[in-house]
Amino acid sequence: MRSIAVLTSGGDAPGMNAAIRAVTRTGIGAGLDVFGVRNGYAGLIAGDTHFLSRRDVGGILHTGGTFLGSARCDAFRTREGREQAIERLRARGIEALVVIGGNGSQTGASELDEMGFPVVGVASTIDNDLEGSDITIGVDSAINVALEAIDRLRTTAASHGRVSMVETMGRKCGYVALVAGISGGAEVVVIPEQELAPEEVARQLRAAFDRGKNHAMAVVAEGAKNNARSLERYFSEHPDALGVEMRVTILGHVQRGSDPTAADRILATRLGEGAVRALLRGESGVVVGLRGNKVVTTPLTEIAGKQKPIDLLLFELARVMAR
Ligand code: F6P
Repeated sequence: MRSIAVLTSGGDAPGMNAAIRAVTRTGIGAGLDVFGVRNGYAGLIAGDTHFLSRRDVGGILHTGGTFLGSARCDAFRTREGREQAIERLRARGIEALVVIGGNGSQTGASELDEMGFPVVGVASTIDNDLEGSDITIGVDSAINVALEAIDRLRTTAASHGRVSMVETMGRKCGYVALVAGISGGAEVVVIPEQELAPEEVARQLRAAFDRGKNHAMAVVAEGAKNNARSLERYFSEHPDALGVEMRVTILGHVQRGSDPTAADRILATRLGEGAVRALLRGESGVVVGLRGNKVVTTPLTEIAGKQKPIDLLLFELARVMAR
């Protein structure tokens, strides 16, 4: 193998730049030519591919986002789109691809591999919903942004004796909400894996006041049936359900925009390096992740389209700590 390409795909995640840097420098160190693809699979189809030197990936380790750009690409879901992408890669003499991204991106990677083009994925999404890795690139940074918000919201909630409800990202996975909730001492956590009816949310919040607290924090995952908007609607229709004022904050993309934490930089560096080593060993059709603090590969066919289950003991921990 003489030449590889790297791209970032799907929602950006803090640490993607560190992963691109690791892929590039490991590849060059092993004597490979390394190319960067702009804007994910869209750039692959368009042939937006550029040679990367060691210096091209200097000064990006500490920055959030992805300097290659990212996209969600409908054309790549079609066989014609993927055939065109493979043609473009082969025309440039590129023999293998590293895909840094989450669930949807790794499904695309799996399809490319099935069509005979060597691909290795790197587990990267703030949602932490990808099988094959205990933790994915970007989660720690996103949780720390959520935690900083929770700490600030608690301060003002305490001043006013209110309930503060904060909604985190994560699609159908409650990991970010749960870990941010435990770290931030939330009185209630609502996640898709353990839905709570609005009446139960109200009961748990009131119970916090009954135990002598003067304020309460609720952390709610966006993917929960009763997410922040729906709970806000319920409480405005049932003003007596809580008995105190409530304010709602939806964090949204602010969680994706931070610089990567140390944990994300080291994770991304290990997984990026691991992806190139896997290709050099002749592996393809795998995702590189971290399991039990070891860099491991898992076949893409085993993870594509699946959602990693959450450890419900954490949910119990959140409940015990809230009392
Ligand atoms: O998958 C990462 C994620 O940030 C989810 O948590 C969120 O639901 C989604 O992407 C938002 O996507 P977009 O950036 O396309 O609005």
